[in-house]
Amino acid sequence: MTRTETYLRLLGYLKPYWGRFGVAVACTFVVGSLSAGPALLVKYAVDDVLIARDGSMVQLIAAAVVVLFAFRAVVGYVQGYCMYWVGQRVVMDLRNELHRHLIQLPMRFFEGKTTGELMAKSLYDISLMQKAATSSIRDLGKEFFTFIALVGVAVYQNPKMTLIFLVVFPPVGFLIARMGEKVRRITRGSQERIGSLSALMKETYTGMRVVKAFGAEDFEGARFARANLSFFRRIMGAMRVRALAPSLVEGIGGALAGGILWFGALMVMRGEVTAGELSSFLVAVGMVYSPLKSLTRVYHNLMEGLAGSQAVFELMDAHAPEAMNPGGRPMGRLTRGIRLEGVSFAYEDAPVLRDITLEIPAGKVLAVVGLSGAGKTTLLDLIPRFYAPAAGRITYDGVEGGELDLRSLRSQIAVVGQLVNLFNDTVANNIAYAAEGPVDPGAVEAAARAANAHGFISALPGGYGTLLGEEGVRLSGGERQRIAIARAILRDPSILLLDEATSSLDSESEKIIQEALDRLMRGRTTVVVAHRLSTVRAADAIAVLDDGQLVDLGGHHVLMERGGLYHKLYKMQFASGPGEEVRPDEQLLRQPGGPA
Ligand SMILES: Nc1ncnc2c1ncn2[C@@H]1O[C@H](COP(=O)(O)OP(=O)(O)OP(=O)(O)O)[C@@H](O)[C@H]1O
Ligand SMILES: [Mg+2]
Repeated sequence: MTRTETYLRLLGYLKPYWGRFGVAVACTFVVGSLSAGPALLVKYAVDDVLIARDGSMVQLIAAAVVVLFAFRAVVGYVQGYCMYWVGQRVVMDLRNELHRHLIQLPMRFFEGKTTGELMAKSLYDISLMQKAATSSIRDLGKEFFTFIALVGVAVYQNPKMTLIFLVVFPPVGFLIARMGEKVRRITRGSQERIGSLSALMKETYTGMRVVKAFGAEDFEGARFARANLSFFRRIMGAMRVRALAPSLVEGIGGALAGGILWFGALMVMRGEVTAGELSSFLVAVGMVYSPLKSLTRVYHNLMEGLAGSQAVFELMDAHAPEAMNPGGRPMGRLTRGIRLEGVSFAYEDAPVLRDITLEIPAGKVLAVVGLSGAGKTTLLDLIPRFYAPAAGRITYDGVEGGELDLRSLRSQIAVVGQLVNLFNDTVANNIAYAAEGPVDPGAVEAAARAANAHGFISALPGGYGTLLGEEGVRLSGGERQRIAIARAILRDPSILLLDEATSSLDSESEKIIQEALDRLMRGRTTVVVAHRLSTVRAADAIAVLDDGQLVDLGGHHVLMERGGLYHKLYKMQFASGPGEEVRPDEQLLRQPGGPA
């Protein structure tokens, strides 16, 4: 995207607000033109009042100045207000669009992206864009019109002197343009750095427990300071250039003013111009520097804004939203089952799942076990098509996943993951998360009861209206899981995906959660990544994954008899895990070759 294209696209966001924007630009024109008024009035003050020693005009001129400034102030206010309004609206629209775009991107996009990096785009880059879209245009208009009006006054007073003064501009303009390009380049670098800065902050604040436990406050402080320093260095590169430009204009202006004073005084002596004309000219030229200086600033804001726009537009264009296949076959409740046929998958190059074929009949429970990193969670993620298989296919009641309307497929699925995300909302709304239309509070409570969550929810200060999440009360791990279970129960999906938390709860909470899960699983097709003995034993079939391959499939007793990986896992993971009581008959099972 070229700079012009980028800028035009940015200006396109002003379109819905052209009315207000138009008013602002019109006011800009008025304010700019009025700014030259005092310079013009100086001639009369000098020639007709001071030199002519005539007091009759004094009140008139003074009153004119007051009225001029008062009017300019009012118009300036309207202009400023309209421009800020439009600017903030554009920012709001851009943030909405970027956010909407980001949340519609496929899961793959989010791998290798830090939250901070994405947030920086929305917060930092878009604020750069705002400046370019509005305050720059405002100042551009105002300062440009002021400049033109002042030059007009100068020409009117004395064209010859104006000419001298104007030849200096082109080279100065060229220099400033070069500097602007540099500002834009440096800004791009600082954007990345602010992204890593916010990523670091997010990491530290969310990992506060670890930071404190490891006494890593100083370590984190130093790490942040390093990243911050790198941002400072980068941004100072741009600031150095930005600070130089106005001084450059000023310096040249000073030299010029001296020349004009000398030249002008000669002309007054020779009687070619009046003292009033020279004064007016000098005031006009003197006043020209302020808009010129502002123009260089505006130009650099514009360049920064372009850098921001480029980054945001690239993000919007480079990635296509997830193909939801809205015209695909709608999926109803699962009646026959899910089949994986030769499914393989890789996040990057290394295969994570290899040639997996298995069937999950409707209403049955499949437990998936395997060592950490074997690909269990990944297998689960393929079922709602968070990722499409690289090879092979997954069918739902005989229909291939790619042919289904993805939204309707996902509406049949509830996921209870290893980590439970609570949103910054009430308990009731967290349970009814993303429900369409108003939700019956009775249904929410029934779901909470079924999830064994009603008890602790009622004990919260605000009951179901208690705020959860970042700004609300904190729940224990087991409580969070029960909220997630209630959420799934209310959604009433026909397919259930459970990823059991690896950390065991105490046996009491374990029992409460198991009970809730049993209710949730009733009548649904369930795939569960199992870490608890009770879960594997209750499953209709157990799939054993080893390094992405399905190495065994069958019931608990059959797999134990075979004495393969499952047997080994069973000994390592389940029977000796904390919170599991090992009954005497199971103790027997732990002996290799013992009776099943
Ligand atoms: N988003 C990702 N990008 C790249 N690689 C990934 C990603 N998620 C997982 N992996 C890799 O894929 C492999 C399987 O991961 P997966 O999370 O499926 O394991 P798991 O069996 O669920 O393990 P655990 O029991 O520890 O939860 C691992 O080697 C992991 O490093
Ligand atoms: Mg996992």
